[in-house]
Amino acid sequence: MSSTVQTDFFTVVRERHSVKHYDAAHKLSEQEIKELLEIANSAPSAWNLQHWKFLAITDQTAKAKLLPIAYSQTQVVEASVVVAILGDLQANLKAEAVFEPDVQAGLLSEEVKANLVGQIEYTYANVPTAPRDEAIRNASLAAMQLMLAAKAKGLDSCPLGGYDADKFVEAFGVPARYVPVMLVAIGKAATPARPSVRLPVEQTIFWNLELSKKLAQSDF
Ligand SMILES: Cc1cc2nc3c(=O)[nH]c(=O)nc-3n(C[C@H](O)[C@H](O)[C@H](O)COP(=O)(O)O)c2cc1C
Repeated sequence: MSSTVQTDFFTVVRERHSVKHYDAAHKLSEQEIKELLEIANSAPSAWNLQHWKFLAITDQTAKAKLLPIAYSQTQVVEASVVVAILGDLQANLKAEAVFEPDVQAGLLSEEVKANLVGQIEYTYANVPTAPRDEAIRNASLAAMQLMLAAKAKGLDSCPLGGYDADKFVEAFGVPARYVPVMLVAIGKAATPARPSVRLPVEQTIFWNLELSKKLAQSDF
């Protein structure tokens, strides 16, 4: 993998597709994987709480353990790395670690920090859906950024939701604080992705106050 490949954003988005067959001989070094994950790690997140952990699975034994959990989808053994994206159900506990350096650097006042911490504590204590919603929402943004980073570096990827999350938790020792969000297989394509198209954007865009009326007229 060359970290100097330059591909413009629109080409990256257009050319990213979910590759199902990888060159099993292609390896990525820890440094190369780290570079990709650093880009994923720069994704935006609510209150900048960075609700994600990345488990990079590179070892053939670990990949073989994953194969039946992923319903025998061979991407997980052929890809150079499978990154399990884990969402943090207690990302509120990171508030101090996230905000205090900003205060020390003069980027955030103590008052603003206290306000933000108050919002976070209130939300995590009083909105029952928030911990899981925030974990999945924010970690998914990191997953998307990871796939685009891979494409920009000349690699291919496939997101996988098709795996048994409970078995994954057990097999890979995921603590209760974290929820498996998705797997992302990354490597060199052996076979190009099956072309896929999207429904016309006109069927997905609505404007202003017309949503319920237009959706009621829609066939889907
Ligand atoms: C959350 C999520 C879960 C997915 N799970 C799987 C999966 O388990 N196996 C698979 O082969 N593809 C999986 N896909 C890939 C989709 O099938 C693919 O993104 C979609 O068909 C569009 O094709 P494209 O990604 O090639 O543009 C998943 C995609 C997403 C976003």
